[in-house]
Amino acid sequence: ENDATVSIIVVGASGDLAKKKIFPALFALFYEDCLPEHFTVYGYARSKMTDAEFRNMVSETLTCRIDKRVNCVEKMDQFLTRCFYHSGQYDSMQSFVELDKKMKHHEDGRFSNRLFYLSIPPNIFIDAVRCASMSASSGNGWTRVIVEKPFGRDSESSAALTKSLKLYLEEDQIFRIDHYLGKELVENLSVLRFSNLIFEPLWSRQYIRNVQMIFSEDFGTEGHGGYFDNYGIIRDIMQNHLLQILALFAMETPVSLDAEDIRNEKVKVLRSMRPLTLDDVVIGQYKSHTKGGMSFPAYTDDKTVPKGSLTPTFAAAALFIDNSRWDGVPFLMKAGKALHNKKAEIRVQFRHVPGNLYNRNLGTDLDRATNELVIRVQPDEAIYLKINNKVPGLGMRLDRSKLNLHYAARYSKEIPDAYERLLLDAIGGERRLFIRSDELDAAWTLFTPLLKELEEKKITPECYPYGSRGPVGAHYLAARYNVRWGDLGADQ
Ligand code: BG6
Repeated sequence: ENDATVSIIVVGASGDLAKKKIFPALFALFYEDCLPEHFTVYGYARSKMTDAEFRNMVSETLTCRIDKRVNCVEKMDQFLTRCFYHSGQYDSMQSFVELDKKMKHHEDGRFSNRLFYLSIPPNIFIDAVRCASMSASSGNGWTRVIVEKPFGRDSESSAALTKSLKLYLEEDQIFRIDHYLGKELVENLSVLRFSNLIFEPLWSRQYIRNVQMIFSEDFGTEGHGGYFDNYGIIRDIMQNHLLQILALFAMETPVSLDAEDIRNEKVKVLRSMRPLTLDDVVIGQYKSHTKGGMSFPAYTDDKTVPKGSLTPTFAAAALFIDNSRWDGVPFLMKAGKALHNKKAEIRVQFRHVPGNLYNRNLGTDLDRATNELVIRVQPDEAIYLKINNKVPGLGMRLDRSKLNLHYAARYSKEIPDAYERLLLDAIGGERRLFIRSDELDAAWTLFTPLLKELEEKKITPECYPYGSRGPVGAHYLAARYNVRWGDLGADQ
């Protein structure tokens, strides 16, 4: 079996995701000698292309981190000779039969494994799965399928999708990607918690006042609003990326690092949460804004967005976990497009020091003087802890300083892209970072009632100017739970 081949079939090979993430990640893995010896990459899409044209297209996408190194060109050429193209409709059994023949030819009688990466819109998803599984599955090795969100748009459509997938695939063949799970600092969350004495004992309602999960982008949909408008920021970011981070943050200690053990704990914590209500949520949509002579468009100026759309491009929410560890602790989420910066981070605000001897040396803003642990997922990865410290000198004045683990300063190696780790895991059959179907159900259960209500009641999002810090409603929402957003302070 060491001699086995792996065929990686990128279905939807000319799409954005394939070009931006999948091919560069595959090349990076190849460059690092992480791919099996006998691997072949197939692009599958509708447009007609020769292998040479496809290689040319792929080569233009290989601008990943490793690109800068010296002997990259030679490696690129070696990689490209492993790339082939097959054109066909996504629902054409015949075309997948031909793809199967092509793969068999390259497999040359070896033990064969096949990994399909479905990078295609949801409406053709099931057709492609049917064709791939019935006509192009491996005869003697494994066949796995990586799928990307959207996994439906509510509980019912997601369950229907899962049901259809399971007509053709076993659960252990399905690899549902949430690429945030492949990010270095998200993976490190468990190491931080479970491999250091000083965090886990504090990880509960007893010491933690609130937890914040923040995602912001400094650009809008910019012409890609067609997909987005049907989903909105809650489905695009919160129900998956931020909720996954929350689950890893808040879960109990798993029995082991085994995929099933970890996912069991994640499902458990998700099922301990209260479904969201309208009261706990603020939604927003960006409006045009002119700044320094530059003018930035409104969401509804995007030609691919229907006029008068009420789709939120920003949302803030308060979530609660009704278990003994987290009873009463607000978990606040905030996600938005077209904001003032691009960032993803987790902030943990600890309680006040009871009877703090130094209260009067701390200045007037006692609220700010609590400890805060920040895990900056991106950009410029870092983990830092804000502490009160004595300003050196003869007096007794305290300030807020950081114990700072700044990745760029500490580690010289570049951080791999999330897709590299996820592809490598899928090839290796490691399921830890993929979403199991019961996890997905639990996630939808939390958000579906809210999403329905927003749509049925046609709730109008609050406006916020492009490039701003989002609608003021987010501030009031947090204030209701005695929380201040940590990312808005001067000393963040
Ligand atoms: C995707 C969303 O899942 O994540 C996009 O659909 C978003 O809207 C993207 O831009 C953000 O990912 P990253 O890795 O750039 O933070």
